[in-house]
Formats: sequence, C-alpha cells, structure tokens
Amino acid sequence: MTDVISLTGLAKTFGRGAGATRALDGLDLAVAAGEVHGLLGPNGAGKSTTLRILLSLLRPDAGEVRLFGQDAWRDAVALHRRLAYVPGDVALWPDLSGGQVLRMLAKLRGRKGDDKRLAELLERFDLDPGKKGRAYSKGNRQKVMLVAAFASEVELLVLDEPTSGLDPLMEAEFRACLTEEKARGRTILLSSHILSEVEEVCDRVTIVRRGRVAESGTLAELRHLTRTLVSAEVERLPSGFDRFQGLHEVRITELGGGGGLGGPDGLDGAQANGGVRLECTVDTDHLSELMVALGTEGVRSLTSRPPTLEELFLRHYAA
Ligand SMILES: Nc1ncnc2c1ncn2[C@@H]1O[C@H](COP(=O)(O)OP(=O)(O)O)[C@@H](O)[C@H]1O
Ligand SMILES: [Mg+2]
Repeated sequence: MTDVISLTGLAKTFGRGAGATRALDGLDLAVAAGEVHGLLGPNGAGKSTTLRILLSLLRPDAGEVRLFGQDAWRDAVALHRRLAYVPGDVALWPDLSGGQVLRMLAKLRGRKGDDKRLAELLERFDLDPGKKGRAYSKGNRQKVMLVAAFASEVELLVLDEPTSGLDPLMEAEFRACLTEEKARGRTILLSSHILSEVEEVCDRVTIVRRGRVAESGTLAELRHLTRTLVSAEVERLPSGFDRFQGLHEVRITELGGGGGLGGPDGLDGAQANGGVRLECTVDTDHLSELMVALGTEGVRSLTSRPPTLEELFLRHYAA
C-alpha cells in the first residue's frame, strides 16, 4: 500500500551567503496509513520546516513530497481537503469568534456539521467559542484549531507541537483524543520535542537532528539499539571485571559498613566487606553475560531498566 506521507531527500536553506541556515539537509520520512508517527527533535531541528513543506506552504530546494501517493504541490487543493493541519503558532482572524472559525473550517473540509461532536470537543477542551480571535491566548487559539481538526473527518492530521500552549490537564485530554482518533484509523503526524507525549501515543518515531533523520523506527526498535541501565549491589566484583565487553559509563562505589553519610574520607578506608555498588550501561547483547557474572558474586540488589526516551535523546544530541 502507498504511504500517506512520503518525503524523500528534502533540502531547504533559508537566506544566502554567510547568514544562510540549512534547515533541511536530505530528510526522508514515510508515514503509512493508520499510523501515528512522531517527528521528534530539539528546537531548530527542522520539524516545522518539514511540515510546512509537506503542506505546500514552503517550497523545498530539492526533494520529493508525496501525499496520498500524489504530488503534494501540484495536487495541493484536492489533497488539502483530506487533511487538517494545526501549525505551531496558530494565528486566528481577530474579528471572528472561535465558533465562527470552527464553522468555517468545517465547511472548508466539506462537512455537513456534526454539532454533537463539536460540542463534546469544546466541552473536553474547556473552550469558549463565543470569544473573538484577538481575545484568545496562544493556548486557546491552539485549542480552536485542535478542536477543528478532531471534529473533522479528514484522513490525515498534521500537528506541529500541538501541546506547546496547553496546560497538563489539556495535554491529557489531547492524548486521549489522539488515542481515539488512532482507533478510528486516522493517520497522524505529530511533531514534538516532548518525549513523553510521543512515547505514549506513537506507533513509530523519527528523530530529526540538524535537518536530517538521526533514527527512525518503532520505539521498541530504537530501544533495541540502546543500552540497558544496570544498578547492582554485590559482595564483590566478578573476577576479570575490567575485561568485560559492552560496558559503558561504569561507576563503582565501595560500600562501607558505616551507612550512607560518609564523604570521600568515609569511603577511603572501606575495604572491609561492605560490598560494592556497580552502576553502568550495558549494550543489550552483552547484558546476559553481565547478569550471569554478577549472579555468582552474591547479588544483594539489582535493578535494570531500558533508557527513557529522554536519555535516548540526550545521547543523540550530546555530540
Ligand atoms: N522563515 C525562516 N527564515 C530563516 N530561517 C528559518 C525560517 N524558518 C526556519 N528557519 C531556521 O531553520 C531551522 C529549522 O527551523 P524549524 O523547522 O522551525 O525547526 P523546529 O520546528 O524543529 O524547531 C532553524 O535554524 C530556524 O531558525
Ligand atoms: Mg517548530
């Protein structure tokens, strides 16, 4: 089946000469029908530029942009009836009320108007449709567009940092809506620099860094590439420990008998059998070796967990 979104080799430079910014540098992205896809990256990575090119609001210097299998630029008018876009910074018409904007957008998206659904969404997002555009806060302008997008019946939602102006309660509501829309089979592309937002709802994520894809896959696939964090207390370190393969960021603390308050002086003399605390990260394919070796050395406590996306991210952007 054709992907709903297919971007190939996108390049975009803003400005010229010394002041030029290469916002996109050969970016590829594919989103299948029914998929919720997270476009992750820090500020300035090129997320909004990607989405604006997808929406034909901006022309790329190079690359191919296909929506529903068609040329996104040439067939823009017809294609845009099948999607809803919520930009990162929503501008509304100052003299139109929220309700007027919602009715107008519903008409544009060819909807007869399911007022029940709209009322439900207004309620859930705690949005007063009577106010004029100029009176809304950033968060409320964003809510108007989100409500319009969720109320529509389009096949594809493109959301640029949709929760950046929402408070935590509204964020939770937003996530609930996403899950419902996913169940209805909509395709959703959502950009974010907030990992927890994406972690919960996305089938796949693409991590963008400096205008290129750093990594793309399901969360499970991305985690597979990463290390496991291990923290253990053992009687003593396994013999030959310093020759172990696949260990990183190793920290070894000798545990004194005298409790946890000792500073460096307290640790110095602690050669007695207070045991050893080992903290490290392990390449996943070396994990079982380490577990077996520790197991023979009197394990007192052991925790291991996959890194959070936060930690994944730090590793990506630390360099
Ligand atoms: N209209 C523009 N003119 C000049 N530079 C721009 C413009 N839009 C974006 N940029 C630059 O392109 C880079 C990518 O921006 P953007 O796509 O907005 O990143 P993100 O959405 O990931 O934060 C940034 O360095 C940004 O400053
Ligand atoms: Mg942006």
